[in-house]
Amino acid sequence: MNNELAEQGNIQSLLSKIGEGLDQFLKFDHPDAHLTKDQWMATLNIPLPTQGLGIEAVTDELVTTIIPNGSPVANPGFSSFITTGSTTASTLATTAASIASPQRYMGTAFNFIEELSLDWMASLFNLGSMKGVYSSGGSVANLIALGGARQHAFEQVGIDPSAFGIDRPCRIYASSECHHTIQRSAGVLGLGRNSVKLIDCDSQGRMKVTALQSALDEDLKAGILPMAIVANAGTTNTGAIDPLAELGQIAQQHNIWFHVDGAYGLPGILDKRITHLYEGLALADSVIVDPHKWLGASVGVAATFVKDRDYLLRAFTQEPADYLEGSASQADESPATHIEHSLDDFGIPYFDFGVELSAPCRGIVVWAMIREIGVEGLTSRVVRHNDMATFITKFATNHPNLEVLSTSHLSICCFRYHHESITDLDKFNQRLHRRLVRENVYMPSTTKVNGMLTLRPCYIGARHNQTQVDGLLAAVLRIGEGLLAESI
Ligand SMILES: Cc1ncc(COP(=O)(O)O)c(C=O)c1O
Repeated sequence: MNNELAEQGNIQSLLSKIGEGLDQFLKFDHPDAHLTKDQWMATLNIPLPTQGLGIEAVTDELVTTIIPNGSPVANPGFSSFITTGSTTASTLATTAASIASPQRYMGTAFNFIEELSLDWMASLFNLGSMKGVYSSGGSVANLIALGGARQHAFEQVGIDPSAFGIDRPCRIYASSECHHTIQRSAGVLGLGRNSVKLIDCDSQGRMKVTALQSALDEDLKAGILPMAIVANAGTTNTGAIDPLAELGQIAQQHNIWFHVDGAYGLPGILDKRITHLYEGLALADSVIVDPHKWLGASVGVAATFVKDRDYLLRAFTQEPADYLEGSASQADESPATHIEHSLDDFGIPYFDFGVELSAPCRGIVVWAMIREIGVEGLTSRVVRHNDMATFITKFATNHPNLEVLSTSHLSICCFRYHHESITDLDKFNQRLHRRLVRENVYMPSTTKVNGMLTLRPCYIGARHNQTQVDGLLAAVLRIGEGLLAESI
C-alpha cells in the first residue's frame, strides 16, 4: 500500500491497540530487550522502504515488535539515575496535545493551561510570584536560567551579552556535586566551561559556605565578574540540599544572580518534615524543576522559573521575522486587544524566553497530573518515596552486612554490602550490582560517595512503593552472601 492518504487511520481503534500493547508492557513479564535483540533487529533493520505498509501494519509492528522491546525505566524495580516512566495522565495529555494543539503559542485551551500550570507549580513549590517557561529537560532549563544570569551580570557593567558577547572573564560558583549541565551551559553561553568554579562540599554533599565566600573574595580581588551562584535543591548523587538561605544571602549581598537547581529535588518541599531545608528559596532569581522526574511527566518536560522574565526576553529574544507575523511584538499589546482568532497568541512569548521556537504544549501534562491526584496526591507520593529511602537507611544501619554511605533527606539512599573479610568493597559491590541488574527485577544505579562505590536507589516513580525496597534489600543480601561464599 503506497497511497499517502492511507495515513488517515481511525485514531480511536489504533490507539486502543497501542493501549493494549502498553498495558501488556507494563506487566513487565517480557524479557529484557537486550536478550531478544537478534529477533527485533532482524525485523527492524531493513533498507529505506520505497512503499508504505499502511497505518494498520505500522500499528501492528509497534505493538508486536517495538513496544515489548522497550526500556526498563518504567519498571517499578528500576531506581537508577533520576528518570521514570510517565504516568497514564501524562501519556494521555501528551497524546491529546500532539494532535489537538501541536504548538504552545496559540490562543487555545491547551495554551491557556501553559501559563496556568506554571503558576500552579509556582504556588505548589512556594516560588511566590516567579514566572516560568517550559523546556525539554533540566539541561535546557539550567541553560535558560544561566542565560538570564549572564544578562543580569553583564548589563550591570554596561554590556548586552546577547547582542555583543562578553568582554571579560566571569564566574559561576557551583558545588562539586552540581549537575554537569551547569558546565555545559557555561560552554554554550560562551563563558567557557572553566568559568564554573566548583566549591567543596561537606561530608553530606552540601556546598561549604565558607569555601564559597573565600572563592568569591579571591575572584573579586582579581577583577573577575561574579555571574551566578548555583545551589542544589537535591543533588543527583545523594539528594543533598545546599544551605539555600546562607548561599542566597551571599548572592544578595554582592548582587549576584542566585540560581537553584531543583530539577530533581524541588518537589521535596511538599514533605512538611523537610520543608525547612528549602528556606532561602525566596532569595532565588531562578529555580528549575523537572516535572519529568519526580512528578511523573513523560520525558521532555522541565520548567525554569525567574523573578523577572524580562531578563530571559533580553537574553533569548529572536530577531523579528515577517513569517512570524510580528508575534513577538504582540507581547507588548494587551491580549484583549489583539486576540481575534485562536491563531493569535496570549501575548506571552515563550519562544523568546528560551531556545526553542516550535515546542509542544507541556503545561497540559502538568495540568493533567495535578488535576488527577491534586496537591494531596503529589504530596503523599513524595512522602512515600522519602520514607522508602529512610527505611533503607535505618535497615542498612542496623544490619551487620550493610553500611550506609549517605543518608539523604530526599528519596535516595546510598548503601552497600559490607563484610570484614572483603578486601575491596568497591569491586565487590560493583560485581554485586552487575548481578543484581542482570536479574532484571531491582535496578538501582551505583555512584561514589566520598570516593567509595555505593548502590544508589532513587525513588521517584509513581509505581514505586515499599515492595521495591523490601525486594531490593533481600536481593542485595542474597547476592552479597552468594558472592562472599564464592570468594571464600
Ligand atoms: C540536579 C539535576 N539537574 C539537571 C539535570 C538534567 O536534567 P535532564 O536530564 O532533564 O536534562 C539532572 C538530571 O538528572 C539533575 O539531576
